[in-house]
Amino acid sequence: MYLQVKNITKQYHHHNGTVINALSDVSVTIEKGRFVTITGSSGSGKSTLLFILGGLLRPSSGSIFFNEQPLHSAGDNALSAFRQKHIGYVMQSFSLIPYLTAEENVMVPLSLLQKDKKTQMEIARELLTTVGLSDRMQHYPKELSAGQQQRVAIARALANNPSVILADEPTGNLDPSLASEILTLLKELNTKNGITIIMVTHSPEAAKYGNVKIHLKDGCVTKTN
Ligand SMILES: Nc1ncnc2c1ncn2[C@@H]1O[C@H](COP(=O)(O)OP(=O)(O)OP(=O)(O)O)[C@@H](O)[C@H]1O
Ligand SMILES: [Mg+2]
Repeated sequence: MYLQVKNITKQYHHHNGTVINALSDVSVTIEKGRFVTITGSSGSGKSTLLFILGGLLRPSSGSIFFNEQPLHSAGDNALSAFRQKHIGYVMQSFSLIPYLTAEENVMVPLSLLQKDKKTQMEIARELLTTVGLSDRMQHYPKELSAGQQQRVAIARALANNPSVILADEPTGNLDPSLASEILTLLKELNTKNGITIIMVTHSPEAAKYGNVKIHLKDGCVTKTN
């Protein structure tokens, strides 16, 4: 067992009193080194599940374990330490800082890890080379193609040397050929570097990259394999 949620529910409470059951009794076990895809229609609870798996959101009930560590009862500091140590995030909109170069964008999380400037720069360059951008380090986001911007975002997600990458529609804004480049890169990080990938996607094409498939419908898991 590696990352596991057991019987989790998530309710969102609106100020007008309505309650939305985003997840109902979801149990999933993810073994280390897998490439997991989460599919389901809009509003089925995919992002909610991803955020809970990454310790960004707490479930309303149920438990979540990373190895033997219970995260459902962890305090805020322990939860943020877990995220910083183990998790990298890649989102649909690349959320790069527009006035920083590719290299500087990747240096941001490294500076939070209190590395000195020279080390930050060395690691950022290494990571940008890993994602195939050694010749674009000094480019600003607007000078990069959409696929290249997503590569910078992936390099940034790798900065803390995470064991798990969570990706929410990482190819949602890309045309099919750029999308398959990004998916191939994620697959390489999975097979060569042993990073566990958990990816939300609408695309059946993208879902083929996974070896564990979770399908959600109305907040329930309807299929895992
Ligand atoms: N912060 C929030 N407050 C209230 N309701 C929310 C909140 N976030 C999500 N919801 C609701 O919870 C349900 C699940 O949302 P979630 O974002 O997990 O869906 P999703 O499967 O990721 O959808 P999409 O494919 O459109 O991104 C939806 O009905 C949504 O409206
Ligand atoms: Mg979503």
